[in-house]
Amino acid sequence: MDATGLRKLADRAEAEIAAAPDEAALEALRVRYVGRRDGEITLALKLTPTLATGDRPAYGAAGNAARERVEAALDRRAAELRSSTLERDLRPGGEDLSLPPRRVRVGRYHPITQTIREVSRIFAGMGFETVEGPEVEWDYYAFEALNIPADHPARDKFSTLWVSTDTAQRMLLRPHTSPMQIRVMEKRRPPVRVLVPGRCFRYEATDATHESVFFQYEGLAIDEQLSMADLKGVLYSFARQLFGGDRKIRFRPDYFPFTEPSAEIAFDCFACDGTGVTNDGKCRTCGGAAWIEAAGCGMVHPAALQRVGYDPAQHQGFAFGGGIERLAMLLTGTPDIRLFHQNDMRYLGSL
Ligand code: DAH
Repeated sequence: MDATGLRKLADRAEAEIAAAPDEAALEALRVRYVGRRDGEITLALKLTPTLATGDRPAYGAAGNAARERVEAALDRRAAELRSSTLERDLRPGGEDLSLPPRRVRVGRYHPITQTIREVSRIFAGMGFETVEGPEVEWDYYAFEALNIPADHPARDKFSTLWVSTDTAQRMLLRPHTSPMQIRVMEKRRPPVRVLVPGRCFRYEATDATHESVFFQYEGLAIDEQLSMADLKGVLYSFARQLFGGDRKIRFRPDYFPFTEPSAEIAFDCFACDGTGVTNDGKCRTCGGAAWIEAAGCGMVHPAALQRVGYDPAQHQGFAFGGGIERLAMLLTGTPDIRLFHQNDMRYLGSL
């Protein structure tokens, strides 16, 4: 090979490099022409020392020039290929589908909200309209109108959070949703069927089944010839729809000033399967009672009916009220009520 041959070699290499379709082809050409061990130009340059002394400078210069031209051509083509790949990726339809997608986080309702919605849905199926009422309430609706006058011992069980006002009436954060029984009856004539979910407040120490801020649901039905049998039927149907057929429920006589007769309803404890004990001993969820009290209920007291102008001889009704968190605990297997409101996403997200 002579200097002319080297130039021709460089010409050919340049043409092939300019036509290289992709980076792999370009790399193969680099190895073929300027590869360190046996690239064509590399080998040609290695021959320099074997030439006659006079021929070496021209040959060596031509060899170096050929190598530089090829290397420059390789750089140029590499840059071209990079920018055309980028252009293709940025063109509509040229997206890189091998890129992992960004994780989509789908939000959902808080378990308490889900429970409220489910309870409302079930009662809606039995004709109960969901309504809401004020969280800050007058003494009259929270107590007086429910047959709990100021000196009544039943007030003790509603460890109350009072609001300071300069009004004649005392104001409080409602300790139950029952005040809405009166508010609804004042506004409507029978038949009445309402379901009232809502936030309630009590000045109480918290434990596995109590919180000072919690939710209740209240039901009220007023019509002609309603009896305790209707109340039991509605609550049985509710429990079965919410928990399925195998949850046991228990009715026991109880006392509430605004219902007569009154009863307490309980579901068998899901954590110990109604036995009161678990492997670690006494069941922590029901405190060993085997039952979880879920609601108070009864026939609306005639005095409450009269107070809102209903005639107890013509209209009767039943009412019930219970804790939403208790239901949510049963539904989600949550052993401690506080887990709902601590808002630890690790727990809530696992439900
Ligand atoms: N309001 C009562 C409570 O918080 C529960 C209750 C009992 C509601 C009897 C009722 C009822 O509607 O009829 O303890």
